[in-house]
Amino acid sequence: MDKIAALKQKAEAALKGGGDKRIADQHKKGKLTARERLQLLLDEGSFEEIGKLVTHRSRDFGMENEVYLGDGVVTGYGTVNGRLTYVFSQDFTVFGGSLSETHAEKIVKIMDLAIQNGAPVIGLNDSGGARIQEGVVSLGGYADIFYRNVKSSGVIPQLSAIMGPCAGGAVYSPAITDFILMVENTSYMFVTGPNVVKTVTHENVTSEQLGGAHTHASKSGVTHFACANELECIENIKKLLSYMPQNCEEDAPVYAYEAVDESRTALNNIIPANPNQPYDIKEVIAEVADADSFLEVHKEYAENIVVGFARIGGRSIGVVANQPSYLAGVLDINSSKKGARFVRFCDAFNIPLLVLVDVPGFLPGTDQEWNGIIINGAKLLYALSEATVPKITVITRKAYGGAYDVMNSKHIGADLNYAWPTAEIAVMGAKGAAEIIFKKEISSAADPDAKLKEKEAEYIEKFANPYGAAARGFIDEVIMPEETRSKLIKGFKMLEHKVVKMPKRKHGNIPL
Ligand code: HXC
Repeated sequence: MDKIAALKQKAEAALKGGGDKRIADQHKKGKLTARERLQLLLDEGSFEEIGKLVTHRSRDFGMENEVYLGDGVVTGYGTVNGRLTYVFSQDFTVFGGSLSETHAEKIVKIMDLAIQNGAPVIGLNDSGGARIQEGVVSLGGYADIFYRNVKSSGVIPQLSAIMGPCAGGAVYSPAITDFILMVENTSYMFVTGPNVVKTVTHENVTSEQLGGAHTHASKSGVTHFACANELECIENIKKLLSYMPQNCEEDAPVYAYEAVDESRTALNNIIPANPNQPYDIKEVIAEVADADSFLEVHKEYAENIVVGFARIGGRSIGVVANQPSYLAGVLDINSSKKGARFVRFCDAFNIPLLVLVDVPGFLPGTDQEWNGIIINGAKLLYALSEATVPKITVITRKAYGGAYDVMNSKHIGADLNYAWPTAEIAVMGAKGAAEIIFKKEISSAADPDAKLKEKEAEYIEKFANPYGAAARGFIDEVIMPEETRSKLIKGFKMLEHKVVKMPKRKHGNIPL
């Protein structure tokens, strides 16, 4: 029996036994209750509740008659795999989990404790939004939370799981946090719902189409994870936390690792003979990272770049990799934004970066230019340049044009730059280059096609390799693919205590 069917059965049994109808309703929808979710998230017996006896203050619209202890949100702290974690879990069975003045105060209290004590905050969201009966105090409560989200950003990890409705301005707290996880079919996020959309734009959409997990995982990129059900969602939260430090002053936990034979001969055959043929960069990641340690983030969004956490020799790293099997791994607006956001998280929380490069350049076209590939492409360049964590690059194949610079080149502060013998490092592809620089020679030749081919071959011979860059020290070593994992283990170990002193400034001005 699948988990959702099991929940429904539990709900029916509870109802027959005279159980709470509101809880049964929650189960019928395939949702757990606020407390059940916390039970699954936190280590057994570790939860300490704060503010259990808090009740709402509003006395309008009959609110004086219905008073529930806790006011629609369970707050407190506990441990996840032994590490201190602050939590709030909205209770849809109380006024639809709507956010009142006191509900907000309880969340704020947890957030203040978390930032003062340097531990992550996990928010389990399931709410009808601002408590309609309360008016502006509820809006003020939201703003109090937003303000703390911003203050906590880059100081402690903040994770948001969306396990029911999350609409209107309420979406902006999760949006500011580091990672959003949504549950398929039972959660949605939008600023304005289907009814308003219909009135304003005459579009007919369901909540799921407009702001369901799949929509936000693949179209908007708002959510980093679309989870099949709540249990998977909670497992993903725990996994995510395992790669992160408690706060920006600490390092991520190191897992036990015993040195063995680190050569990975499968990598020697991964690059196809034809340089235009795709391959899956995730196979490279799986080989170089510790076994089964890769947790992909933003899997369904901008698939031409792959980002995620992994471990190498037991230590957490962030991986950013062009994906040749999707749009040839080209950089475009969405992939640049996706990469930049991930890099900034890793840099804020002392997680070293591995950048795997196979990129033919930036995506051409009016769509990209008019939507700002200039400003958006600059985000990834800015983020990687700004990052002071250990940074290692491996060029597996193409590194063309501006994308060579952007993808963690030596010039923007990478610590170690490796290339496989199959690397091609050049201003542009050989055909285009030959057409431009040998234009006259080609057009005046007796056989222009043959001349173009000859010049193209000349350009390939000169630039479609890593040796020119290595001769200048832009590449530190040309390595056999099978050596990659061993080089990375040694490299990240060597960089373990890296310190970079930056000039004093208030903050940079990343092109937003
Ligand atoms: C008070 C609310 C509520 C709210 C739901 N409830 N939303 N009470 N304030 N915002 C109550 C319902 O009255 C109901 O109470 C119970 O919660 C369950 O709601 P149902 O409607 O029966 O559940 P369901 O059919 O699952 O629908 C869920 C829903 C719907 C889609 C979320 O309740 C809804 O549309 N709610 C209003 C959403 C909304 O417009 N919120 C304000 C958004 S603006 P009883 O007692 O009957 O069980 C906003 C601004 C934030 O949030 C700005 C921040 C800057």
